[in-house]
Amino acid sequence: MPTPKSSSHIRFAAVGDIHVQKDAGGSLRSLFAQANEEADALLLCGDLTDYGTEEEARVLAEELGAVHIPIVAVLGNHDYESGTPEVVTSTLAHVGVRVLDGSVCEIQGVGIAGVKGFGGGFGRGALGAWGEPAIKLFVQEALNEAMKLESALAKLRTRRRIALLHYSPVVGTVEGEPMEIFPFLGSSRLEDPLVRYPIDAVFHGHAHRGTLRARTISGVPVYNVAKPLLQRSRPDVAPFFLYELPREPADAKTPSAP
Ligand SMILES: [Fe+2]
Ligand SMILES: [Fe+2]
Repeated sequence: MPTPKSSSHIRFAAVGDIHVQKDAGGSLRSLFAQANEEADALLLCGDLTDYGTEEEARVLAEELGAVHIPIVAVLGNHDYESGTPEVVTSTLAHVGVRVLDGSVCEIQGVGIAGVKGFGGGFGRGALGAWGEPAIKLFVQEALNEAMKLESALAKLRTRRRIALLHYSPVVGTVEGEPMEIFPFLGSSRLEDPLVRYPIDAVFHGHAHRGTLRARTISGVPVYNVAKPLLQRSRPDVAPFFLYELPREPADAKTPSAP
């Protein structure tokens, strides 16, 4: 039974890891049509395609034809596999998808900052920038993504804010995966900006066998909306996560940072 839209709240439908393949035409239309019915915006948390090819991105763009609400996305590691993430981005941008990469957008008074993120591990187990150049490069990539997230969050002036990632910023939503691969599922370095800036919720994917909900150390809710996880943990409902925020008056902005 679809949940009707509300005049007092803005509702987001979030899902990641749809991994569209070239022969997937028609398989996602009804899911997207339902999200279009129930939500005010659709959030896509990376691994939009399986191999990051133009062909797959075109199939996804076609499937998204059922969606008339705003669509905001970040890319995932799979969207980089063919070495042409910009083609995935431009193919989707062509049908109106806002693909964020250290950038922001605003949907009905809610600010959204988006970045792919990267791995490196969590807490005391996080990889340090020490030793071989390859290790330092790996760590630097996570730091770069965290910095992009921070500068995106710094740009937002809305009172309500959401962060969109592919990799996880916290260990809580990757639990359920084999512990050996935790370091490849996300990085605590992505949590730092989420603690420093006011934010209502964080959405990510990538950990297909992780945990749906956790929190940052400052208490911000983090949702792992990887489609395989949603399907497994809630088999009776459509595999997108509905999240609501109260609607804000049009002029509700926070003052600029000094
Ligand atoms: Fe994935
Ligand atoms: Fe992924």
